[in-house]
Amino acid sequence: MTTGIHDISAATGSLVFALADLAEHEGIDVGKYHRGIGQTEMSLTAEDEDIVTMAARAAAPIIERHGTEGLRTVIFATESGIDQSKAASVFLHRLLGLPRAVRVVEVKEACYSATAAIQFALGIVARRHDERVLVIASDVARYELNSSGEATQGAGAVAMLISENPAVLEIEPVSGVWTDDVWDFWRPNDRSTALVDGRYSVQVYLESLEGAWNDYRAHGGAEFSSFARVCYHQPFTRMAVKGQQRLARIADPDGESADIDRLADTVEYNARIGNSYTASIYLAFLSLLDNGPDLSGERIGFFSYGSGAVGEFFGGVLVPGYKSQLRTEELQSMLAARRPIGYDEYRHRHIAYDRVGDFETADETHGDVRFAGVEQHKRLYEAR
Ligand code: CAA
Repeated sequence: MTTGIHDISAATGSLVFALADLAEHEGIDVGKYHRGIGQTEMSLTAEDEDIVTMAARAAAPIIERHGTEGLRTVIFATESGIDQSKAASVFLHRLLGLPRAVRVVEVKEACYSATAAIQFALGIVARRHDERVLVIASDVARYELNSSGEATQGAGAVAMLISENPAVLEIEPVSGVWTDDVWDFWRPNDRSTALVDGRYSVQVYLESLEGAWNDYRAHGGAEFSSFARVCYHQPFTRMAVKGQQRLARIADPDGESADIDRLADTVEYNARIGNSYTASIYLAFLSLLDNGPDLSGERIGFFSYGSGAVGEFFGGVLVPGYKSQLRTEELQSMLAARRPIGYDEYRHRHIAYDRVGDFETADETHGDVRFAGVEQHKRLYEAR
């Protein structure tokens, strides 16, 4: 029996802000963003969007295609939770019209937790072959205005159906894992923007990659040269380049695996969406599936990183015919349909984000599900 990703679908916010506009406001050369960090745009959520509405938009096509039979678990991975107690997947459960006989939960560890969710899902499917698990990664990445992280914001969600005999990716059983208690990036309960030690976070990311890779190999993982591509967590797409160079140096010093051209297909969506924390590595994967050549039967590597910090390296093999499962046009149309906003509107929205008390939101989203506002501390969602 093989287990892995049977279906995958993504969504993003309905607004877009160009980094050229940020650079102009800052009076700096846009090359720092376009080439230096490898980002051209960032998606932003509309007033009536959040992690739940993006998750619903990503997951709806999966439920539409596969129905709900055997779907008994939903795991929602996010760094940007909307309630300290109630799981975001409980809201999603109703919005997707899932049956009552489903367990739903939310998991957290910065940008890493979707990978943990997939591993948990694989365990469930291995025990109960007829069950399927919906894993959602959905995040809104926010930093303070005028901070070093400001250019690396973004918003996006990826939904994945985990099952036996998957149609997209067979995930191999070996994983390399790594954890260290550090303060590279964190978000205390009273803040909606992250705190970050930017340069240090890059350093810890690379240490974690090295540690997870060494653990992967120590547990019988495949050689680096056997990977057709590696998908990296991409807080900004140049981070994947740094990762590939580091991995090649330790894993294949005499080989050509550092070839950064091989990353090109994995960064197309992320360069336009920005950081989407838990969703970022799976957007990189989707970018490869949608924009890369047919790699049926090839092994793909995954390096998942969450600040604080946890890293995991694992591999999977693309299932022949996977291209026929994709919804490339839908995501590309969604990206093209985002409404561009200028610096003043971006700034206004950034400040207005932290609303408290009761309020109603404007009808802005391009999706079918809206975050309608807050009433007596309760978040209200409505389907159109
Ligand atoms: N043309 C081309 N390149 C230029 C340039 C220009 N005009 N100006 C600068 N650059 C290059 C620099 O040389 C540099 O390249 P290298 O990294 O190869 O040295 C790059 O652009 C960035 O420039 P700086 O290092 O000066 O940029 P910075 O210090 O202002 O910000 C950052 C970089 C610290 C990563 C910042 O974006 C940040 O704090 N981001 C948030 C934290 C983050 O994303 N960390 C990543 C690891 S943590 C993680 O992965 C978890 C997560 O999701 C948050």
